[in-house]
Amino acid sequence: MLLPAILGSLLLAAQAPQALAAKLTQVDYPNNATSKVQMFVYVPDNVVANPPLVVVIHSCQSTAQTYFQNSKIPWKQGSDKKGYITVWPSSPHSGTCWDVSSRATLTHNGGGDSQAIANMILYSIDKYKVDPAKVFVTGGSSGAMMSNVMAATYPELISAVSLYSGVAAGCFVSSSGGVDQWNNSCSGGSSKATAEKWGDVARAMYPEYTGSRPRMQIWHGSADGTLAPGNYQEEIKQWTNVFGVTQTPTDTRKNYPQANYQTDDYGDHVEGIYATGVGHSVPANLTASEIWFGLV
Ligand SMILES: *[C@@H]1O[C@H](CO)[C@@H](O)[C@H](O)[C@H]1NC(C)=O
Ligand SMILES: *[C@@H]1O[C@H](CO)[C@@H](O)[C@H](O)[C@H]1NC(C)=O
Ligand SMILES: *[C@@H]1O[C@H](CO)[C@@H](O)[C@H](O)[C@H]1NC(C)=O
Repeated sequence: MLLPAILGSLLLAAQAPQALAAKLTQVDYPNNATSKVQMFVYVPDNVVANPPLVVVIHSCQSTAQTYFQNSKIPWKQGSDKKGYITVWPSSPHSGTCWDVSSRATLTHNGGGDSQAIANMILYSIDKYKVDPAKVFVTGGSSGAMMSNVMAATYPELISAVSLYSGVAAGCFVSSSGGVDQWNNSCSGGSSKATAEKWGDVARAMYPEYTGSRPRMQIWHGSADGTLAPGNYQEEIKQWTNVFGVTQTPTDTRKNYPQANYQTDDYGDHVEGIYATGVGHSVPANLTASEIWFGLV
């Protein structure tokens, strides 16, 4: 009696389209940093040859797995559609913010979280044959702070960055050098400096470096109650100074990439997107970051 049913389901299984096997997977990677950040990777079923890589850095109170499941974040879907790889670092710290305050993390090869994430990029180039010219970094909130820190500490590894709701690289520095410290002056918008000063802070993280640097796309909401909106301007000051361009936009698009957003270009390497009425959240239409990365 059961046999026809079993045969039937076997037949159905044989005829069904091949199940998608790709899933977020934790991997061991060679990591000589003191910081033991966990690495998760998503390799889509239809991965392209020499794939681009997007490193997606989660916010506080989140993890690689939780962030991966956030449907507002376009990277899993984009990976499935376009065949690029995504790497999702997971913070080792209590509360799962990133260390963007210690001397170690704010220094190239200083042994902190930034070096651990750099090691993930190097491993991905080796293991998954990632195209080293197509390595992108993105993140929100604490992940945005870390994206800025990655741009300053490992410019040689990254082609472009797109971050939302963060603060300038080095803005969360701890005067006592503490790891993973909250900085009220910065979060509240009181850490203000000249463009030259912010540029110096970024350059000091890898002083001997003279090569090319990642293009920077910076998003912030005007109603951000966690990381004051003023941090947007400090980030723009920092990266326009690093690229040696003025803080006067070369191009402005109102209501782009959507209503109540404004996109300002500062030459080809710095773009700011200011979202009126948007709080400390994943901004709508984050897929515009895929365009910034050239993943179209
Ligand atoms: C870790 O490895 C990198 C690459 O081989 C090297 O440049 C760096 O100095 C090493 N860092 C430590 C702390 O051993
Ligand atoms: C907070 O960061 C600012 C720079 O943004 C720094 O000057 C200050 O010392 C930091 N505060 C603490 C308590 O570490
Ligand atoms: C989202 O962004 C894309 C490109 O940046 C734009 O073409 C599109 O109109 C935007 N969608 C909405 C709903 O604004």
